[in-house]
Amino acid sequence: MTADIIDGKAVAADLRARIAASVAAFEAKTKETPGLAVVLVGDDPASQVYVRNKGKATEKAGMRSIEHRLPASASQEEVIALVRALSADHSVDGILVQLPLPAGIDANRVINEIDPAKDVDGLTELSAGRLLLGKEGLVPCTPQGCVILAKSVRPRLEGAHAVILGRSILVGKPLSLLFLAENCTVTMAHSRTKDLADVCRSADILCAAAGRPALVKGDWVKGGAIVIDVGINRIGEGAASKIVGDVDFEAAKIRAGAITPVPGGVGPMTIACLLRNTLVAAARRRGLADPEV
Ligand code: GUN
Repeated sequence: MTADIIDGKAVAADLRARIAASVAAFEAKTKETPGLAVVLVGDDPASQVYVRNKGKATEKAGMRSIEHRLPASASQEEVIALVRALSADHSVDGILVQLPLPAGIDANRVINEIDPAKDVDGLTELSAGRLLLGKEGLVPCTPQGCVILAKSVRPRLEGAHAVILGRSILVGKPLSLLFLAENCTVTMAHSRTKDLADVCRSADILCAAAGRPALVKGDWVKGGAIVIDVGINRIGEGAASKIVGDVDFEAAKIRAGAITPVPGGVGPMTIACLLRNTLVAAARRRGLADPEV
């Protein structure tokens, strides 16, 4: 058996098209255009690429992209002052502070200055708490993307055993709550988990978000399982370098029922979900119903 390859690019393009249509309807109704502010501190090359791509996608969806760049030498107080100003600016609907921040800046302090109504990354303490409590809020983008991709091949996840490899704030922990909300049975696995291969083999849905290249071997995958690979690992040097996931794709695809590639799987979904959160935030801030995207 060879797995279906889950085309994250196509799923994301479809979502972005629906968002663009919904942005047009929002504008017709409110005479306003949703705006996403992205704050980039320093000159980390990977972050610069991400921020550029986010800006392009935001404009392509018909929204305003507002970029703020601060030098790596910026103080924590300067970054906080900028985030406070964006929180107070009515024309800004979403705020994203690109991570990682330079050493010496407390990312938690900065993130928690974001108005939770504009927290399109879902990373403030209030957003995290609301997700835990099952209350309406803004949900982190990458976990949202993982669930959408899993549902693209299995629309009802109820009863499935979801194993999540990795317990980060950005992906693993919020993803566990989203799968629980889908009535999955959820197992969190991590670097200290005993018999990791066996735990993975029990998964109907295996999400690898450990940040370790090819950690998941082919024989860790149960026959027919859905494999969602969140890893983005650069291996090799210079021109010979390439991006690989946390799953040994070639070995896993022989056993899985469906699998996401890297690149072209979860990655494109993260930006699409960011656009969705921006539109949702813009609607909620004006007392409008959530757009159906
Ligand atoms: N850096 C890598 N991934 C992310 C993300 O999802 N949000 C932010 N703000 N920074 C990141």
